[in-house]
Amino acid sequence: MTANSAHIYPVFDRMVPRVQRETRLGQRGLVVWLYGLSGSGKSTIAYTLEHRLFAEGRFAQVLDGDNIRTGLNRDLGFSDADRLENIRRIAEVAKLYAHSGVITLCSFITPHAVLRTLAREIIGETDFLEVYVKCSYAQCAARDPKGLYAKVQRGEVKAFTGKDSAFEEPTNAEFILDTESSTIEASVENLHQIIRKKFVL
Ligand code: ADX
Repeated sequence: MTANSAHIYPVFDRMVPRVQRETRLGQRGLVVWLYGLSGSGKSTIAYTLEHRLFAEGRFAQVLDGDNIRTGLNRDLGFSDADRLENIRRIAEVAKLYAHSGVITLCSFITPHAVLRTLAREIIGETDFLEVYVKCSYAQCAARDPKGLYAKVQRGEVKAFTGKDSAFEEPTNAEFILDTESSTIEASVENLHQIIRKKFVL
């Protein structure tokens, strides 16, 4: 029990059951957690897939780092403690979406193994699909879609992931989308198939 939970009485059995929501939507709720360096292609894959799923009648929603950090998590920066709190809150939100039957596509750097584990624990094994979007720092810097790597080069960004803040490569990632050797289109197609197979949409 945390300090704040002493007089809290959560009620989870009075809401419309998840299965009824999923039946209404004709799909199973789940969280696809895309992680990797800034500029690796996570958000591009997530948004492309969101549109594709929506076009085929599914209900999907992207949660993405830059968006969440301008609202819910605008009080957080890029220290290890803030990144942990960032991922904890997002995982709790993603869990709510999944329980509403939404295909939730999360796009966050999630640089440390412990953060990936935390997200998995909060969301739960059966609703969680962890996908490493693999791309080298050099390639992300060459793409530099937001001009951020150039700023890092000029010394204008502190604690930048892959530079002076660590990105831990996964040692046994379940799914890898390598955007350096494959096109975004191929990665989207690949992920679409995985979701279909694993979650029987
Ligand atoms: S995470 O590490 O906490 O998972 P998150 O995905 O929410 O990061 O946010 C990453 C985004 O914030 C990047 O895509 C980039 O646009 C922006 N950003 C700003 N400063 C930094 C930084 N120091 N390190 C990484 N990303 C940063």
